[in-house]
Amino acid sequence: MAGYISDDTRKVTTHRLIEMKQRGEKISMLTSYDYTIAKIVDGAGVDVILVGDSASNVMAGNTTTLPITLDQMIYHGKSVVRAVKRAMVIVDMPFGTYQGNSKEGVASAIRIMKESHADAIKLEGGEEIIETVKRILSAGIPVMGHLGLMPQSINKYGTYTVRAKEEAEAEKLIKDAKMLEEAGCFGIVLEKIPASLGERVARELSIPIIGIGAGGQVDGQVLVVQDMLGMSKDFSPRFLRRYVDLHTIMTDAIHQYVVDVKSNDFPNEKEQY
Ligand code: KIV
Repeated sequence: MAGYISDDTRKVTTHRLIEMKQRGEKISMLTSYDYTIAKIVDGAGVDVILVGDSASNVMAGNTTTLPITLDQMIYHGKSVVRAVKRAMVIVDMPFGTYQGNSKEGVASAIRIMKESHADAIKLEGGEEIIETVKRILSAGIPVMGHLGLMPQSINKYGTYTVRAKEEAEAEKLIKDAKMLEEAGCFGIVLEKIPASLGERVARELSIPIIGIGAGGQVDGQVLVVQDMLGMSKDFSPRFLRRYVDLHTIMTDAIHQYVVDVKSNDFPNEKEQY
């Protein structure tokens, strides 16, 4: 681990992420939705924490990201910000708070920044939301884009399969990415696309490109923290590396607690007043 983890304890900023890309240092990013996990993730040296709208699935058990509300994203954002000292904190703009109307988009982004104290927002889409992106940027709010698989559009596509395998979709993705860069976005997440396309976008753009299932030649990687900790058994995309089997570790520990309570082993003499 030594040598790869920065001993620079200064807060990570958009400027520093761009410097990391320029010197070829890969950017580490993980999601967090609550204080306890965010404190561990920040303390372990992760550069960027995403308060993803995947909270809708992971925290609330919804089957899509669509139901989560702006108030709920702000609640998760606030909880994470309270825990974090070094990482940059980005909050996802939830479905329905920016797609239709750029004025509403700016108002939603301002609420996130004002109430959660996050460092930036992320939203999904390219050309179709570019006016909203520009308005949010002109309010002084850093914006990260998100292209490729965009879970908020699941009802349009109907599947979570790999995106932009066809030439036309790949060309549109490159055009959208360039548009987001020109508008002033400080970075873009690319989700579930061919590695060769991820590499091309990272090479042609000067802002950091963070991949989730976008191959190893982009500028950084993001995963959902509960997935990489192995807390769930029922989600196994190819891009996911599980670093620990917390599902088994937690189940065994909780089972032992049940046994100890039932057998009157817990609490023992030293565990009471
Ligand atoms: O909401 C989320 O967790 C995300 C990541 C998958 C990038 O957007």
